[in-house]
Amino acid sequence: MPFKTWLTETIGVRVPIVQGGMMWVGRAEMTSAVANSGGLGFLTALTQPSPEALRAEIRRCRTMTDQPFGVNITMLPSMNAPDYLGYARATVEEGIKVVETAGNPEPILKYLKENGVIVIHKCVSLVHALKAQEKGVDCISIDGIECAGHGGEYDITSMILLGRCAQELKIPFIASGGFADGNGLATALVLGAEGINMGTRWMCTVESPIHQKVKEEIVRMDENSTILVLRKFRNTTRLSKNEVSLEVSKIENSKLDPKFEEVAHLMSGARGRGVYETGDINTGVWSVGLAAGLIKSIPTCKELADTIEREAKDALAKASGLYSEKARI
Ligand SMILES: Cc1cc2nc3c(=O)[nH]c(=O)nc-3n(C[C@H](O)[C@H](O)[C@H](O)COP(=O)(O)O)c2cc1C
Repeated sequence: MPFKTWLTETIGVRVPIVQGGMMWVGRAEMTSAVANSGGLGFLTALTQPSPEALRAEIRRCRTMTDQPFGVNITMLPSMNAPDYLGYARATVEEGIKVVETAGNPEPILKYLKENGVIVIHKCVSLVHALKAQEKGVDCISIDGIECAGHGGEYDITSMILLGRCAQELKIPFIASGGFADGNGLATALVLGAEGINMGTRWMCTVESPIHQKVKEEIVRMDENSTILVLRKFRNTTRLSKNEVSLEVSKIENSKLDPKFEEVAHLMSGARGRGVYETGDINTGVWSVGLAAGLIKSIPTCKELADTIEREAKDALAKASGLYSEKARI
């Protein structure tokens, strides 16, 4: 019997698994493969250089799948803010019905809701989740410190965040950060989530549009292979522990009050993109989560979704057999 959660019922996906926005990775190849596997994929708006390019990417994705998919719009503080509303307009005008927001959803939330879009807001703390609920988002995707990329400043694990969401939120929530298999999905469902969001695990699939060597590196990595940097700039980010991120960490921790300009050249997005394109894992910094420790293979998205579905079903059945009213003789 298929899973029945808010995600499967509201979005119409078969398996309650999500592929969240992934800079440089969340392109049509990735998102359509997730959609075809039975999960919910999000194209990453800012990977496209303009709203018009996003429009073209949505159309390209539609030629690759007839299943529902969404768009991630990430709104982090920046000196030259991208045209967020332009990206949101392209998304709505192309008929997308579900958007994953990250950062401050304010610039586009009213517009999305006026146009009937389901908004899943990704955040890293209960305070932000409650604020987003008040502003009118439909669902929260709560990212623990295990996650790849921005995990917040308080190092709260998924286990605790999920418990707190179950206690305090009135809207549905999805577990994110550190999930990579069916046991993780089963655990998240037991803790009250409607499904799991994954980045690292989807990155390491056949269809993920990154160099094979990066995927092989993720399989090689374990749970000690990542590093948190930029804490002193209140922009803590989990990256692969490589030559460049170790250098960032060294500079950041060599002074009490470092300036961002001292590490900016190392943190450059263009260099990070180079890792995915060339497979040289030391070209720049790249995001990866603790879930890398759980990843031992490079399956197709369909193989992954089917395995997660089967493992989660078995795990829930096994768990329910651990308690019995009958006394053992
Ligand atoms: C390579 C990569 C790039 C990411 N870029 C973004 C992004 O641009 N916006 C965003 O909201 N989340 C981004 N994320 C975070 C994911 O959407 C997701 O929340 C996170 O990976 C979940 O944790 P996990 O890696 O343990 O599965 C990125 C993750 C990865 C692995």
